[in-house]
Amino acid sequence: MTTLLMNAVQYSGYGGGPDGLQHVKVPVPTPKEDEVLLKVEATSLNPVDWKLQNGLLRPFLPRNFPHIPASDMAGEVTEVGPKVENFKAGDKVVAMSNVLKGGGLAEFAVTKENLTVARPPELSAVEVVGLSIAGLTAHQAVTQAAGIKFDGSGKKANILITAASGGVGHYAVQLAKLGNAHVTATCGTRNIQLVKSLGADEVLDYNTPDGAALRSPSGQKYDAIIHCAMGIPWSIFEPNLSPNGKVIDVTPGPSALVSFALKKITFCKKQLLPLMLIPKGENLHYLVNLVKEGKLKTVIDSKYPLGKARDAWAKSIDGHATGKIIVEP
Ligand SMILES: NC(=O)c1ccc[n+]([C@@H]2O[C@H](COP(=O)([O-])OP(=O)(O)OC[C@H]3O[C@@H](n4cnc5c(N)ncnc54)[C@H](OP(=O)(O)O)[C@@H]3O)[C@@H](O)[C@H]2O)c1
Repeated sequence: MTTLLMNAVQYSGYGGGPDGLQHVKVPVPTPKEDEVLLKVEATSLNPVDWKLQNGLLRPFLPRNFPHIPASDMAGEVTEVGPKVENFKAGDKVVAMSNVLKGGGLAEFAVTKENLTVARPPELSAVEVVGLSIAGLTAHQAVTQAAGIKFDGSGKKANILITAASGGVGHYAVQLAKLGNAHVTATCGTRNIQLVKSLGADEVLDYNTPDGAALRSPSGQKYDAIIHCAMGIPWSIFEPNLSPNGKVIDVTPGPSALVSFALKKITFCKKQLLPLMLIPKGENLHYLVNLVKEGKLKTVIDSKYPLGKARDAWAKSIDGHATGKIIVEP
């Protein structure tokens, strides 16, 4: 039997940045019993993809080299494992593979059925592929961590979102507004109009003194800060928080974890909460529906063919994406 080969992009060890990516032909993966095989129409990059290459979880992960990175994927089902019940060949879907398993920078990829969601025919792969990691992270931060409800119940919250022009932040602004929050957002000068157009009530340029201090133009104190930027110390957050305010840190480093523990054991009312994404298919389904209803949109920073994956990788490492970086195999 001849083995079907596909184009893929992989790396064979830690480090190397864009130059560490190799274009290869490898066998098309075979779905396990609870997995779906997709012909990938679009994948999107997230900082975790290159952070893993940098050795974020070295020496544990990636567990095996070579490693095909990227976990966001949207495409068409071509084959399903024997225990898959809800999908069949020909279905259009959006999906997420285990972050540590990756596989998205390839013409075909496998995902678990429980993290695969039907994609309405009117939505392109590009429009929804960013929902997997960035969208789900924003959803978890806004709902579970900040306590915002979409059904109008609960008090109107005052929310600050840092790096509101980035992959996570641009979804968080829109979701917080859907939850009827008052949203203040930080971004760079060039993205102020965009972030306002996403619904932010007040926008701070992070290059100005008020922006660097996270000071609300109208004197708001924040019930929650969804912190998608990096390198802002607690001393900047603290005076801007309401008495029971919390900082939800989506990139918690060692100092954030120490702050988290200290505030817990000293019963401090102002809290710092590290957030790690726990992806759920039902939430991805919810987000896809919001896009279908025109209530949520993906801002596309740039699109690259698979042959230019190194450029897409470099763009993500650069840290100045506006919305999502897409690769189309
Ligand atoms: N915990 C989890 O499970 C989880 C899940 C997803 C992501 N994350 C983490 O969340 C962080 C954000 O991810 P992302 O995908 O949103 O990143 P991203 O798309 O690469 O973010 C880029 C954006 O951040 C803006 N930015 C950078 N520094 C800023 C600052 N100091 N103030 C305001 N804006 C700033 C940039 O604006 P300019 O171009 O104007 O500088 C750019 O628009 C990353 O560290 C990622 O690893 C964690």
